Amino acid sequence: MAEHWTRKELEFALRERSPRHESWIRSLAHCDRRHFLRVTGRFAAMAAAAGVVQPHAFQLVNVAYAAEPGEEEKLAFRFAYISDSHMYARGMDHSFVKATLKAVEDVNALDPQPDFVLYGGDLAQLGRPEELELGQQILSELKAPLRMMVGEHDWYFDLGEKWRALFGPDRYSFDHKGVHFVTLNSVVEKDFWSGPAYTPAQRMEIVAGLDDGRQSRFEVGEEQRHWLARDLEKVDRNTPLVVFSHSPLYKYYRPWNFWTEDAEQVQALLQPFRTVTVIHGHTHQILTNRIGRIHFFGMLSTAWPWPYAPEGLPELTIQMARADPFDQFDGCGDGRVDLLRGGGAIKHYDLWDRDPRSVSSAQLDRGLSADRAGYRGPSY
Ligand SMILES: [Fe+2]
Ligand SMILES: [Fe+2]
Repeated sequence: MAEHWTRKELEFALRERSPRHESWIRSLAHCDRRHFLRVTGRFAAMAAAAGVVQPHAFQLVNVAYAAEPGEEEKLAFRFAYISDSHMYARGMDHSFVKATLKAVEDVNALDPQPDFVLYGGDLAQLGRPEELELGQQILSELKAPLRMMVGEHDWYFDLGEKWRALFGPDRYSFDHKGVHFVTLNSVVEKDFWSGPAYTPAQRMEIVAGLDDGRQSRFEVGEEQRHWLARDLEKVDRNTPLVVFSHSPLYKYYRPWNFWTEDAEQVQALLQPFRTVTVIHGHTHQILTNRIGRIHFFGMLSTAWPWPYAPEGLPELTIQMARADPFDQFDGCGDGRVDLLRGGGAIKHYDLWDRDPRSVSSAQLDRGLSADRAGYRGPSY
């Protein structure tokens, strides 16, 4: 009974690697939705009984998205996204873990269900195997098929070994209902660790930090660009193209690593297509841009919102209000992308503590006069 749990017992139950915690984790991997809710509810009850303040309630969000007239009829299909959970394996009571559970519940509550769910990278915080395993177990509760993308926090502890074992290739393409999708690993870095003989943990911490000059910059890289070029060769230029990348595929703000070093070369491969939508994670904020035919949409994080960079913000971005510092999850959320027949997209931001926001590629097109190419980023 929850009321019999003391704080000490609760800490024991939630402590990493405790036998009881392990059994909770195992139960998550095999439970149905009703059991899943019961498990998460029991954690909330245990915490409440022990006097632990719940920073976030497990509530289903009623999603009421705005859409322009006629857009519903143009809907081809929709997919949902969850991104940037940055989970530590410090127990089910950790706020980042609970936020990920909430996102899974949000997406599972969508009716009709999305065709698939994209996970936008940075599932783990420090790339540890136990963090990735915990994330895999929680995401396995999604009812819709899951597509994974890697972020730098998932990768630089063991250079992707555990991530690939759990989720498969870090780059791939697929076709779905007339749309060609490509998922990239856009957080490739040149070897900065062998020379100074950094340990795996040191390498991970350097990559997880700001651009302090020790690491190389995120890039898609020459080898992957060749793969992308070969993949796109076989696709008709009128086929709508959607690209998933973790970092934005343009140059936003280098000191915070909101940046892809070879962005222009990747964009050149995408520009021949009639409609191109890039969905990215990493920046933890509502972020929109257009460069030529390419529309860029950033995803929200479930863990924390980044502030907008002090310079270089694309002018088409509809800014979310600055996060309330007293509310850990203000500015966080999950969301949905509606792909329209003919190639346009509407990006829906399910901000947990605020009204939902929507941005469409049609709005971005209207926001630019015909003679302007869109924001290309600062030149450092
Ligand atoms: Fe992130
Ligand atoms: Fe990231």
